[in-house]
Amino acid sequence: MEIITTISGIRGIVKEWKREGLSIGLVPTMGYLHEGHESLIERAARENDRVIVSDFVNPIQFGENEDFSSYPRDIEMDSIISGRAGADILFCPEGSEMYKGSFSTFVDLTGPSDRLCAKSRPSHFRGVCTVVSKLFLITEPGRAYFGQKDAQQLAVIKKMVRDLNFDIEIIGCPIIREEDGLAKSSRNSYLSESERRAAAILNKALDEGKSLVESGERDCVKIIETIKQKIAQEPLMRIDYVEIVSFPEIEPMAVMDGPILAAAAVYIGKTRLIDNFIME
Ligand code: PAJ
Repeated sequence: MEIITTISGIRGIVKEWKREGLSIGLVPTMGYLHEGHESLIERAARENDRVIVSDFVNPIQFGENEDFSSYPRDIEMDSIISGRAGADILFCPEGSEMYKGSFSTFVDLTGPSDRLCAKSRPSHFRGVCTVVSKLFLITEPGRAYFGQKDAQQLAVIKKMVRDLNFDIEIIGCPIIREEDGLAKSSRNSYLSESERRAAAILNKALDEGKSLVESGERDCVKIIETIKQKIAQEPLMRIDYVEIVSFPEIEPMAVMDGPILAAAAVYIGKTRLIDNFIME
């Protein structure tokens, strides 16, 4: 596995691979890789001749008071994990390589990016879409892999690819969890021991909501209330939002008819955690 830090370096390799007729899978990440990322890389390795993992903490998707500077980084460990999972290249550019001083072009969309996380992170999806578009143009993959852990991001990227005619198949992958159900996340490393124990309630609350749906409940307000009440049992947790929306449109829904995304974001101390379930 090779570590590449420059855009021209990636372009040279991609050109060669294309000449040889090899298929390319891309797994965009912000590094500090865990089993969630690993599952995406392994799938990409199964389905493509070559795999590029990007490892870039993208400054423009963080708000001013968010954790850009403290976001955990460990390129050495990332290169071991991604190599083991089947990646051929780890692309880790500096911020200045991705955003030259005069950078001023952004990819923004309306619709699925307007709700849920956008309320507390207003420019987040503009930052995500911009960097993902750049990564698509730099690595020219046939397939790109995203986790359902960030279900709104997955919906946003799929819409962007449709709207802008990127010739790339977007593949959504299931959420990988810790034993107690907490979704794996680089941000879990911020949690103290007691916060980590408390964090497990987020998935348990969503599971209660899911059971209600499975038992035939269709009133979204009732499902949301059940989830909120369970989360409220944990004093360390503060709710940012619990919502049910159509998927992949991300439109509000009062009575469930068709596929839904039940999504929640909470704060434990300063750490923001998200989780969700999708029901067809
Ligand atoms: P990051 O949070 O590093 O996540 C990279 C990819 O891994 C995303 O597609 C995310 O949904 C997936 N992922 C994270 N935790 C997962 C889990 N527990 N199970 C399954 N998949 C999981 O998402 C980003 O980075 C950035 O926004 C990015 C798309 C790279 C743009 O900067």
